[in-house]
Amino acid sequence: MYGVYEPAEDSYFLSEILKKQIKTKDIKVIDMGSGSGIQSQTLINIGIDPKQITLTDINEKVINYLKQKFSKSKIIKSNLFSNIKGKYDLIIFNPPYLPDNKHNKQKDTSGGKKGSEIINKFLIQAHKYLSKNGKILLLASNLTKEVNFLSYKKRLVATKKLFFEELYVYELWKTK
Ligand SMILES: C[S@@+](CC[C@H](N)C(=O)[O-])C[C@H]1O[C@@H](n2cnc3c(N)ncnc32)[C@H](O)[C@@H]1O
Repeated sequence: MYGVYEPAEDSYFLSEILKKQIKTKDIKVIDMGSGSGIQSQTLINIGIDPKQITLTDINEKVINYLKQKFSKSKIIKSNLFSNIKGKYDLIIFNPPYLPDNKHNKQKDTSGGKKGSEIINKFLIQAHKYLSKNGKILLLASNLTKEVNFLSYKKRLVATKKLFFEELYVYELWKTK
C-alpha cells in the first residue's frame, strides 16, 4: 500500500462511529479522502450497496489502489469536490487535520498551518453536495485550530483521548 494512508487510530475511531450511526442502508455516500477505503469497507460490511458509494481522493496512487479494491463503487480522483457531481445523503471525511510543523508535513495528515485549512475548504464546498436531509461525519482533533463550521448545525458525536491528542467526530447538517 505504498503511498496510501495506512489505517490508524483516527481511521478506526471514525469507522466505529459509522457502525453505530448508520441506521438507513438506502443512502448515497461520498467517502472523501478515502485512503485505504476503510470507511467505505465499513459501510459495505454493514449492508450499504457498494454502487451507492463514491470514493474520492486527491492522490493518484490511492485512486489506483481503490480501483482494484472497490470495483463496484465509483472512484473519482478529485481535490475535495472539484470533480464531484450530484447530491449525497452522507459525506464522510477523515481529513488531514494536524497543524504543519517540522515533524509533520505529510499530505495525508497535515491540514495547513492551523490544521483546519482543508477542513474549512471542505465545509464551504460540501454544502452544495448534501441532499435535503444529508449529513456530514467529520473527524477533527483538539490540535485542529479555527475550524469554521459556517451555518451548519452540529453535534459532537464522540470523543477519544489518545496519547498526544483528543479526537472528535462531528455530525453536521444544513439549516438552509
Ligand atoms: C487522514 S487520511 C484518511 C484516509 C482514510 N479515509 C482513513 O480514514 O483512514 C486523509 C486522506 O485525504 C486525502 N486528501 C488530502 N487532501 C485532499 C484533498 N484536497 N481532496 C481529497 N482528498 C484529500 C489524502 O490523500 C488521504 O488519503
